[in-house]
Amino acid sequence: MAELSLRQPVANTAPREGYARIHGLHHWAFRCRDADETRHFYEEILGLPLAAAVQHDRVPSTQEYCPYYHFFFELADGSYLAFFDLMDGKGYTHDPATPDWVNHLALEVDSVEALETAKKKLLEHKVDVLGVIDHKWFKSIYFFDPNGIRLELACRTAPIADMKQKYENAEKVMAGRKARMEQMKREKAGK
Ligand SMILES: [Fe+2]
Repeated sequence: MAELSLRQPVANTAPREGYARIHGLHHWAFRCRDADETRHFYEEILGLPLAAAVQHDRVPSTQEYCPYYHFFFELADGSYLAFFDLMDGKGYTHDPATPDWVNHLALEVDSVEALETAKKKLLEHKVDVLGVIDHKWFKSIYFFDPNGIRLELACRTAPIADMKQKYENAEKVMAGRKARMEQMKREKAGK
């Protein structure tokens, strides 16, 4: 059986002279509407442990007065998903100019079985789930957290050789962008 591409770098294999090596996600942070609601979702439905929490009245970087709680859920690789609760009951506001499916956070699971397990738990808690969608090189499910953040759970399914091929083709794919934009303009103009 071909070796699957489980978090093995293909394009980013060597340090670049003069650049710091950025090797992974430390944390991703977002605003939440309510810490209890967010904790319920991430701890009880997705199964992530609360790993750290701080409370500040002033923003450390700017000293602005804005009391908040900042709390962190730990992923299995030691990275974190973090949230700010500004205790004003206001959450993230979606940008109406951006389609709902564009901005999202994709998290990795080890297997298609894990995707199914997560989906089952989400459905038990009446969370709408889209998928399992087969992207050919990974499979995914999609859903929204209580803050309106679109989340994806993804499981890699392609052999390393396929990922090397994708790496080799990436510049070529992007090189077609300008021509595609011109074609879209013509389509829009009905030409
Ligand atoms: Fe995605």
